[in-house]
Amino acid sequence: MKIIWRGHSFIEIKTAGKQILIDPFIDGNPFTKTKAADFSPDYILLTHAHGDHVGSTEEIAKRCGASIVAMTDLAGYFAEKGFKTYGPNIGGTEKLDFGDVKIIPAWHTTATPVNGVNLPLGVATGLALKIEGKLIYIAGDTVLFSDMQLVGRKQPVDVAFLPIGDHFTMGGDDAAYAAKLLQAKTVVPLHYNTFPTIKADPQDFLQLLDKGQGYIPEVDQPWSL
Ligand code: NI
Ligand code: MN
Repeated sequence: MKIIWRGHSFIEIKTAGKQILIDPFIDGNPFTKTKAADFSPDYILLTHAHGDHVGSTEEIAKRCGASIVAMTDLAGYFAEKGFKTYGPNIGGTEKLDFGDVKIIPAWHTTATPVNGVNLPLGVATGLALKIEGKLIYIAGDTVLFSDMQLVGRKQPVDVAFLPIGDHFTMGGDDAAYAAKLLQAKTVVPLHYNTFPTIKADPQDFLQLLDKGQGYIPEVDQPWSL
């Protein structure tokens, strides 16, 4: 499979002829050179309802008919609006034609303005993806919590995407401890340097990891897993 990091928490995966976008934050994302109009994915996976994760989901799904995969309440919000959705609740796995999407816990909030009222649309989650036999952990926005060590209970985590920007999520120090709990083969930092409040040096973070464990992908450049 090919993985492309497009800055902030926006990740694209290409596998078995399918295109999957995760947290497609594009407008206001200072890193990616892409626009929402560039994407016609099969699936859009969301960790939670905040604007810097939902991003251009509606615009893209409306145009190309992509299915939205998110925890029950957030999927229900999009289903109400007429989108195709898959909405397992926390702990549930959706078996899709490209692999399995398991919705798992994260510690974070989700309130977002809906018609001028700030509403929590479900809860924030992480995602454990099983694609081509590999285990990919998308932490979402979260603090460090010890249950992360359960993600790799049955098989080692191949890649863990962890926020390091602090303020809205854990910072690099806690993320490095998360990497230890996860025992992930590869750890990719994200959710940093997008806004002044989440300034962080990813090289400092890499120093806290085991040698060779950290990886900073080039924005918009595919890498093979
Ligand atoms: Ni958030
Ligand atoms: Mn966020």
